[in-house]
Amino acid sequence: MPRIDVRCKVDLPVSIISMKDGGKGNAETKAKFSSISLGGGYINHNISNSSNKIIGLKYDLPRHGEFEILGEVIRSEGAGFAARFYNLNRDAKIKLWDYIKDNLNDELACSYCGKENTQKFRACDTCGWGLNFHSQDYIVNHEKESFVSRIESKSRDFSIEEIYRVLNYVDVEILKIGKNLDINEEFVGSSQGLLNVFSMIRKVAPTDIPVLITGESGTGKELTAMAIHERSQRRNKPFVTINCAAIPENLIEAELFGHEKGAFTGAYTSKMGKFEYADGGTIFLDEIGELSLPLQSKILRFLEDKIVERIGKNGGKKIDARLVAATNRDLKNAIARGNFRKDLFYRLDVFNINLPPVRDRGDDKIILARYFLNKFSKEMNLTKTLSPETIDAIKSHDWPGNVREIINKIRRAVVVSKELAITPQDMDLDVPVHTDVMTSLKEVRHSIEKQKLIEALKHCNNNISKVARVLGISRPSVYSLRKKYNI
Ligand SMILES: Nc1ncnc2c1ncn2[C@@H]1O[C@H](COP(=O)(O)OP(=O)(O)OP(=O)(O)O)[C@@H](O)[C@H]1O
Ligand SMILES: [Mg+2]
Repeated sequence: MPRIDVRCKVDLPVSIISMKDGGKGNAETKAKFSSISLGGGYINHNISNSSNKIIGLKYDLPRHGEFEILGEVIRSEGAGFAARFYNLNRDAKIKLWDYIKDNLNDELACSYCGKENTQKFRACDTCGWGLNFHSQDYIVNHEKESFVSRIESKSRDFSIEEIYRVLNYVDVEILKIGKNLDINEEFVGSSQGLLNVFSMIRKVAPTDIPVLITGESGTGKELTAMAIHERSQRRNKPFVTINCAAIPENLIEAELFGHEKGAFTGAYTSKMGKFEYADGGTIFLDEIGELSLPLQSKILRFLEDKIVERIGKNGGKKIDARLVAATNRDLKNAIARGNFRKDLFYRLDVFNINLPPVRDRGDDKIILARYFLNKFSKEMNLTKTLSPETIDAIKSHDWPGNVREIINKIRRAVVVSKELAITPQDMDLDVPVHTDVMTSLKEVRHSIEKQKLIEALKHCNNNISKVARVLGISRPSVYSLRKKYNI
């Protein structure tokens, strides 16, 4: 099996930034890389308590300046340790490669598989990988040829659940690439709930059926509406949004349907409504549950004969717009209270996409947090990661504000965090109580309870009434404890 990244011997100073023992603040230690590759390096420094430790690495490359990256200590070896680099971005990789290739010696052996070569400057006779290190395209070509081996080496110890998780993720990513299947590029997640949503979007997008999107606030209803439009044949026509809750009741009819000049006081000119703007495209009625009953009737009329009528105009105009509506209200409840038209509900509910709340999306919480962390860190030119406690805190938080809350908390954390790794405090999250502590407390309680029961039974010669008196509990409790501990 050839090595995936070329390694070279170097003598490169590096500062290791690690958390001080006790977790308070950072310590910076000077050391040297004695060998380095694009994937990691060996550092001549004895690091204490080293396994799985995340560290920062700061080094200066000749011609390219200073870099600060994240790494993980993978093992102590000799007088130093081997580190793996984390998420080296493309720019840092290209510059590091520039440095590595200048330090490669001119051996005839292949830098990947070690076999002697006759055609050193093309591809290895044995493993077939490119050796033209000085070509401009070398790095891109190598990333391509080593892609599958890289995945293989990272996934060797995966459990079947982890394999499915990766495959689901790959499916979603592949759906986004080419074949006109591109869901909005910011639709992140690979939980079963979200995969179902993607599948419904794919099914309904090419049709003209009205869609009702439901879900709690911040779950991505507007994003879903846009994804439907982008994947429909109307994608080059307007996508018009109107938030029914944000416009005062007396203005919304004119907003939606337009008006003629002089139709009411203040109507100095005639005005086109949103439905007319959306002709040929999609109209997205956000918070449709907030519309008044008379306006609901006008929407129903549009759904039935595609006619919209400006205020003050006799006769309507035929409009070809696809209607997508969203609400975070329970419309059935609104119908029961007389606030929503049943017939409109059934017209809309023909195709309902319900967005699951983030708390039911499993590991999507982490995928979303990492996605926005990368995005905001890049915007601010920073490198940040999530500490293990933060990952636990994200997993156990309920996320009532859903994706929007994740976005806000990560945005805040990137700004306030002082360390490389974001802490739960940076995100204003509670540190979860570890369930293993709870379990062990429970276990301790059980073992004491059992021990005391055995002692009392022995002491009282199995006389249940006496045992109950000695332990200060009722007789039925003694029976149920005996049953519980099989005594
Ligand atoms: N799966 C997702 N991946 C990435 N970003 C998402 C995802 N879902 C939602 N977002 C982002 O979260 C924010 C909230 O989403 P959106 O506005 O679509 O939610 P909503 O359900 O319409 O919320 P509200 O009911 O409050 O109007 C937006 O910035 C959106 O881009
Ligand atoms: Mg919305």
